[in-house]
Amino acid sequence: MSLRISTHLLRPPARALLRSADSIRSWDWLWQPTYGRRWHERFYRVRDDPYGCTVNPYDRQKYDRTLDLLAGRQFPSALEIGCSEGVFTEMVAPRCGKLLGIDLSEQAVERARARLAHLDHVTVMRATLPMEMPPGSHDLILCLDVLYYLPKDVLIGFLPRLKAALRPGGLLFALHYLGDFGQAMRGKEVHDLLVARLGLEVGHDEIVPGVGPAGAGCRVTCLGIPFPRHEHSGEGE
Ligand SMILES: C[S@@+](CC[C@H](N)C(=O)[O-])C[C@H]1O[C@@H](n2cnc3c(N)ncnc32)[C@H](O)[C@@H]1O
Repeated sequence: MSLRISTHLLRPPARALLRSADSIRSWDWLWQPTYGRRWHERFYRVRDDPYGCTVNPYDRQKYDRTLDLLAGRQFPSALEIGCSEGVFTEMVAPRCGKLLGIDLSEQAVERARARLAHLDHVTVMRATLPMEMPPGSHDLILCLDVLYYLPKDVLIGFLPRLKAALRPGGLLFALHYLGDFGQAMRGKEVHDLLVARLGLEVGHDEIVPGVGPAGAGCRVTCLGIPFPRHEHSGEGE
């Protein structure tokens, strides 16, 4: 039997209690046994660089490929989602006028801040996406090995906000490992969703075979909002 309670019949304290129960439910997935917030916090507490971003050949390969694809461009404002301890943040910083790195782990953010303290134009913030997506829009949004931690319905719900955070002429850069390590979504599915649902121009979409654990490879996708076309005045012809 299910019990339905009409909230307007309740006194204000009971109403507030029900509302907060609802909001706790919408954050449930963060406490999933693996790869939620609490899991990540424990993971980062055990040792420095638990993902091995400074030592894994795969990470080096993905950073190199990303920097290659961004070559020749400068981004006045950039956002890196899931910046971890700031290893790639430091590499990409010279390409950015302003760079905001966000991560759900307090511990990771603390280490990223220490690593990036010499870079005045870089800020690191603890935030859990999609709920705490910072306001503002950017010329570059980086999502490296991060969106597949979100359950599919959560990612789908986040896409309009992600798109709104991209400025005209901006670039959404996504790269995800294609193997299965128990994460909420597979990399292929994440990229298929980005391509199919964002309605952005696909500038680049590639599978890099053989890289990463078990040689499962990774997918790299660049999506963008083209600059608005201006009517040609015909002057000066
Ligand atoms: C595999 S690491 C990738 C780090 C970095 N992007 C890289 O490729 O070197 C994933 C990072 O995303 C963060 N993360 C996972 N889910 C997140 C969420 N919902 N919001 C913000 N950060 C998240 C984790 O704390 C972790 O630091």
